[in-house]
Amino acid sequence: MSGKITFTMIKPGAVADQYTGAIIAKITEGGFKVKALKLTRLTKCQAEKFYAVHKERPFYPSLVESMSAGPVVAMILEKDNAVEAYRSFIGATNPADAAEGSIRKMYGKSIEANAVHGSDSDENAIIETNFFFNQQERF
Ligand code: RTP
Ligand code: MG
Repeated sequence: MSGKITFTMIKPGAVADQYTGAIIAKITEGGFKVKALKLTRLTKCQAEKFYAVHKERPFYPSLVESMSAGPVVAMILEKDNAVEAYRSFIGATNPADAAEGSIRKMYGKSIEANAVHGSDSDENAIIETNFFFNQQERF
C-alpha cells in the first residue's frame, strides 16, 4: 500500500525568480494538502548529503552548488499515493520533456534548474521529511 506523504522543495532558482506563490497555488489546486512548509537554505554540506545518491554523477558538484545557492521552500504534501502522484504532477526531470501544464514545464529553466524536487519513494519521503521538519512543524 502506497503512502500518503511526499516531500518537495521549490529549488533556489525558482524561489529567486519569485515563482513560490504560483507553484504553491498549483500544488494545492492539484489536490495536494500542505502539511508542513518552511523557507530555509541548505548548507553545501546538507546539499551534498541530500543528493549523495548522485555523488558519482558528473552534474553532482554543480547540483550541490545550485541547491545551496539560496533559500528553498520545503514542504510535506499529503495525497493518496503521494510520491507517484506528485512525480507525475511535476513532470519529467528535464523541463523540455515535461508535460504541458506541469510545474517543471511551466517554471523549470533547465534539467538542473527544474523548479522543484519530489521524493522518489515512500522510504525517501520519510527520510527527506525528517531531514527538514520536526514533529511540531507538521500539521
Ligand atoms: P529530484 O530528485 O530533484 O526530484 O529530480 P528527479 O528525481 O526527477 O531527478 P534525479 O535523477 O533524482 O536528479 C536529481 C536532480 O539532479 C539534477 N540533474 N541534473 N545535468 C543533468 O544531467 C542532471 N540530471 C539531473 C536535476 O536538478 C534533478 O532534479
Ligand atoms: Mg530524484
